[in-house]
Amino acid sequence: MDKRRPVQPIKKPRIDTPTMSIRGPIPNGPMHPRPLVALLDGRDCSIEMPILKDVATVAFCDAQSTTEIHEKVLNEAVGALMWHTITLTKEDLEKFKSLRVIVRIGSGYDNIDVKAAGEMGIAVCNVPGYGVEEVADSTMCLILNLYRRTYWLANMVKEGKKINGPEQLRDAAQGSARIRGDTLGIVGLGRVGTAVAIRAKVFGFNVIFYDPYLADGIEKSLGITRVYTLQELLFQSDCVSLHCNLNEHNHHLINDYTIKQMRPGKYEGAFLINTARGGLVDEHALASALKDGRIRACALDVHENEPLNSLSGPLKDAPNLICTPHASFYSEQSVTELREMAAGEIRRAILGRIPDSLRNCVNKEYFTPTPNPGSVRYPFPPTGYPDSMNGAGYPAFNPAAAAAAMGVHSTTDTHSVVPLSTAHTTAHSTLAEAGNHMAKAESSEVVH
Ligand SMILES: NC(=O)c1ccc[n+]([C@@H]2O[C@H](COP(=O)([O-])OP(=O)(O)OC[C@H]3O[C@@H](n4cnc5c(N)ncnc54)[C@H](O)[C@@H]3O)[C@@H](O)[C@H]2O)c1
Repeated sequence: MDKRRPVQPIKKPRIDTPTMSIRGPIPNGPMHPRPLVALLDGRDCSIEMPILKDVATVAFCDAQSTTEIHEKVLNEAVGALMWHTITLTKEDLEKFKSLRVIVRIGSGYDNIDVKAAGEMGIAVCNVPGYGVEEVADSTMCLILNLYRRTYWLANMVKEGKKINGPEQLRDAAQGSARIRGDTLGIVGLGRVGTAVAIRAKVFGFNVIFYDPYLADGIEKSLGITRVYTLQELLFQSDCVSLHCNLNEHNHHLINDYTIKQMRPGKYEGAFLINTARGGLVDEHALASALKDGRIRACALDVHENEPLNSLSGPLKDAPNLICTPHASFYSEQSVTELREMAAGEIRRAILGRIPDSLRNCVNKEYFTPTPNPGSVRYPFPPTGYPDSMNGAGYPAFNPAAAAAAMGVHSTTDTHSVVPLSTAHTTAHSTLAEAGNHMAKAESSEVVH
């Protein structure tokens, strides 16, 4: 008989080494005042308030730049919510003395210096996914408008033009094209790009894509064709749609040089759609390509400078151009979902540990592993707020009891921990000071 002991499999720790913010956890509990959370570039907190009011004081700044932000927010805010109106450079971030987490109310975070934030121990989160269907639907809408010229035809009718007979119709609808059999080239096959690919197939497009960051195989799942260079995509596509995130490698991805690589098209140049980010397209190059017909028609939801002033700038007189005001993501449902998800992330940051409790932290790599995980004061449960749990570990989890166990202030009774889908309330009590506005939670003290 073999008396050797069976080899024991090496046990792997069940939880990855936790990571820790150099700024430490957000102070909360009976010994601390409620942490301050500020909406930097907006004023409506009616959706966020019910989600945060039992754990934070919520203020709004309605600022376009950090120079307009109240000193109290710069000194004390631990959490910031922000739309796309304000930009946070390294210098801006340095003004915030207590900040631990920034949540972008949206998916793109190119208006935040994420690296600088990480180096300062500030976690940056986004809300991906909230409006994927809306952006994909808007993209299809713009593609259809370029192919079917609906926007221009409707405008002619609105302006009183009477179109009578086949010759007039031919002139009015010139440029209309058949979709079936044309090739749609998708640049960036992420969430939106994939949703567009699925939709475009149904319309009869032959769909190809270029995305250098994806592993092989996705093309097989979706039944589309992959190309491995931008040049190849531009050369093959009758219609190019941009869906990559803007990063330091792809500013002005569409420029004079790459426009020359776009196919001349069966009749005229190719179509171009951008619902991703304005910085991907050199608008001077685009304007001249539209004027000389190298690009047949273009639709832009995003612009190099937003809000777009259509009366000035390079695109002022460009023909065959449809511009919309960065609205592709918008529907009442998507925005409610977006704001609930953003506030939920702030809540997890307050109740849990940064960055481990966060769902969509985009600069996690800047946080060092916790030196001694045993010494970290875990919230209960370790994953923070219950909506991040699958129920396996804490079958009888009671949010109110958990909040009480953590010493979280609650202004209401123990059964009133607000679910993420609460009805909206309106922020009241505002303070105008030095051109700023700060609203506060219904039950919070006045912020001076
Ligand atoms: N217009 C709007 O209202 C609106 C709303 C939401 C998102 N967006 C924008 O839409 C874009 C897509 O969003 P998403 O959620 O699908 O992002 P995502 O991160 O899921 O996908 C982006 C994809 O682009 C790829 N990529 C990055 N650089 C590339 C390059 N140089 N060439 C080709 N591929 C590249 C990435 O690998 C990734 O797969 C983003 O720019 C986002 O900011 C716009």
